Amino acid sequence: MSDTFELGTIPPLGAVPKMMKAIVIRPDREGEPIDSMLVEEIPVPECGPTDVLVMNMAAGINFNGVWAARGKPVSVMKMHPDEPFHVAGSDSAGIVWQVGSAVKNWQVGDEVVLHCNQSCRECPACNGNDPMACQNQRIWGYETNYGSFAQFSRVQPQQLLRRPKHLSWEEAASYGLTYFTAYRMLLGRGAMQLGDNILIWGASGGLGVFAVQLAKLAGANPIAVVSREDKAELVRSLGAEMVIDRREFDLNKGPSESRRFGKRIRELTGGQDADIVFEHVGKYTFPTSVLVAKRFGTIMICGATTGYELDFDVRYLWMRQKSIIGSHFANAFQAEKANKLMHEQKIHPVLDQVFNFEETAHAHQLMAENKHKGKMAIRVQAPAK
Ligand SMILES: NC(=O)c1ccc[n+]([C@@H]2O[C@H](COP(=O)([O-])OP(=O)(O)OC[C@H]3O[C@@H](n4cnc5c(N)ncnc54)[C@H](OP(=O)(O)O)[C@@H]3O)[C@@H](O)[C@H]2O)c1
Repeated sequence: MSDTFELGTIPPLGAVPKMMKAIVIRPDREGEPIDSMLVEEIPVPECGPTDVLVMNMAAGINFNGVWAARGKPVSVMKMHPDEPFHVAGSDSAGIVWQVGSAVKNWQVGDEVVLHCNQSCRECPACNGNDPMACQNQRIWGYETNYGSFAQFSRVQPQQLLRRPKHLSWEEAASYGLTYFTAYRMLLGRGAMQLGDNILIWGASGGLGVFAVQLAKLAGANPIAVVSREDKAELVRSLGAEMVIDRREFDLNKGPSESRRFGKRIRELTGGQDADIVFEHVGKYTFPTSVLVAKRFGTIMICGATTGYELDFDVRYLWMRQKSIIGSHFANAFQAEKANKLMHEQKIHPVLDQVFNFEETAHAHQLMAENKHKGKMAIRVQAPAK
């Protein structure tokens, strides 16, 4: 057995080398992705009796890779102190390469996409409530090591979902994290209904492209916020008829500008406010989100790209009886339901750019600087076209 496999090749099924290529972050170089994420060779993680080893064909780029590279707001090294390096990556499409002796439902050779929630699988939350409520719930590739920016990943079998065969490896790798998160936000923790107006910040971004598609599929009305003309074209191509260019507003100016933003929403909707605000931008947009949600409306939030310490006028919340609901990734059941829509081609990946493995840091840097749109993926073992 050779020590490592060549990238972009398909080795003999089930053969496991000692070492693998990985994009590695180390504590002494946490910072911008371009400086932090370097190609190294590290040992292939061992596959225990309840684990599955997947050979990654392609992997999706996500903002959690940017947070991991920066080591901010927390260093991911703290999550696994015994291993002084981190392999990020929470989206993958690949081939089951080895299965632990206790794994029943998957076999070597199965083609899969992965969801990124890991949990203990034994506690009451995992067995009757929601694995997202498990005390040991972790996001694979962020809160755990050995994510998808490597030739092999060690995962839990419940993370595996059947790969939609009509998609390329790169397309299949690109959607899991953000699509399943958007699914839970709108159809799990949130309860989007027919005819609802859904204000979607960052509608051309990773979460947004799926929020727009889900809203359309559910008979709701997406109001897509973007900041470039090509992004506006993208969200229109996904079915958004109402589009707002946020460059026309300086939301740092305070409530008067937020009210002007709310007026634009009513101009587009024929006088209605947003039933649901789809939030992940955080500090910059949150005061506006609370203001523009309709009476009894909901602000669904799963992230805070511009800052997590939020400052907003709570009077708009209680006087108009609005709700703020936090949401985080998805459980396997929701991921499976969302993946079925992908198999049925009712929801589509929005893969804008594909990079070689060695360009993983560059792709993250584009994301860190908001220079991308839709989703990006890297090839791992998938051959370059
Ligand atoms: N909790 C979870 O499970 C979960 C899951 C996925 C993502 N997240 C988090 O959610 C956030 C977004 O993820 P993503 O994958 O959608 O990222 P993304 O692909 O970078 O998209 C985010 C979008 O936000 C918009 N944006 C950036 N700065 C903005 C600002 N100052 N004001 C308004 N909009 C701004 C950008 O669109 P425009 O410039 O066109 O407006 C961008 O397209 C990240 O912080 C990520 O970590 C959390």
